[in-house]
Amino acid sequence: MSHLLVTGGAGFIGSNFVHTVLGTSDDTVTVLDALTYAGDRRTLQGVPEERLTFVHGSIADAELVDRLVAGSDLVVHFAAESHNDNSLRDPSPFIDTNVVGTFNLLEAVRRHDIRFHHISTDEVYGDLELDDPERFTETTPYNPSSPYSATKAGSDMLVRAWVRSFGIRATLSNCSNNYGPRQHIEKFIPRQITNVLDGRRPKLYGQGLNVRDWIHVDDHNTAVLRIIEAGQLGETYLIGADGEKNNKSVIELILELMGQPKDAYDHVADRAGHDLRYAINWDRLHDELGWQPQYRSFEEGLARTIEWYRENEAWWRPVKDAIEAQYAEQGQ
Ligand code: NAD
Ligand code: DAU
Repeated sequence: MSHLLVTGGAGFIGSNFVHTVLGTSDDTVTVLDALTYAGDRRTLQGVPEERLTFVHGSIADAELVDRLVAGSDLVVHFAAESHNDNSLRDPSPFIDTNVVGTFNLLEAVRRHDIRFHHISTDEVYGDLELDDPERFTETTPYNPSSPYSATKAGSDMLVRAWVRSFGIRATLSNCSNNYGPRQHIEKFIPRQITNVLDGRRPKLYGQGLNVRDWIHVDDHNTAVLRIIEAGQLGETYLIGADGEKNNKSVIELILELMGQPKDAYDHVADRAGHDLRYAINWDRLHDELGWQPQYRSFEEGLARTIEWYRENEAWWRPVKDAIEAQYAEQGQ
């Protein structure tokens, strides 16, 4: 039985991770979460509360981080400012949380010799041409495009440097686009689902030919657990599930699954510096650690995600108008 410190455990992927860990082991968990606009204590409803401690605080608080790290056996670091569009409006919190916050955690795990797993993104590798036969691998050079992905790339580099210079016991994973329950409605898939539920038309940036490599959040988290269990210290593992789709086809599928005409959406202003395509080669994770995804049908996973938003309107309704007003200001 272990005690895990999970940063960002009230956000989308972190909360699903806590549900999985507490639902499948006897472990205990402390969640450290700043409850920014993206964090919500209700994401943890339904977990066995007697094995969960929730600490409302920031990874930018070095003293707090030190105390919590000292009391744990393992740190799983999800906390981040995670939305590209926000990083274009105001990059500053991305530096504080993604770079300085990660630095604080690294110093604490170094002092107390605690095992660390760093959650990162495929966006650190930049983007691919639509017809490029190659996909990202663990050796693809870093080439981030947005302030968000640059800060995530910076945090990865800090982890690698702390492994090499100080010998901390860390692993890293870089995953593609997640979908599933409890994702903030600023993000592409839940924004469109809640638009339809709310009687609004879905919004497609530009021509919508940009490709994202979709993976269900539960598959991301089982891969993270496998890396923590069997990954080589100091190494990076890419996580993906062969889910490449362009944005236009995803909007059309959402509309179809929700009983609407396939063309009932609007084209809106494109994202500045919009990455064209992400695609993950996850051979290493499969060949070395024997992991594979369980969600084989995107259509089925998406249908279940639509059901979750239909059944949990109370969760997203209070912020819907404000999110749409913010997008409208940018012509999106
Ligand atoms: P999210 O925005 O839904 O959640 C982030 C959580 O971190 C929130 O609960 C927020 O309150 C918390 N947080 C923010 N700043 C904090 C701070 N200073 N101190 C403590 N907590 C803070 O993000 P997500 O989509 O769940 O992403 C989680 C991690 O996974 C991030 O590191 C992200 O880069 C990475 N990732 C995301 C995806 C994706 O598709 N969403 C894919 C690959 C990797
Ligand atoms: O690849 C992993 C990354 O995936 C993570 O590191 C990020 O944290 C996560 O937010 C996600 O980044 P993206 O920028 O790819 O996700 P987003 O949901 O913002 O957008 C997905 C695609 O959909 C992107 O090409 C932009 C487009 N889009 C987005 C919105 C919000 C639209 O066409 N319309 C929209 O309304």
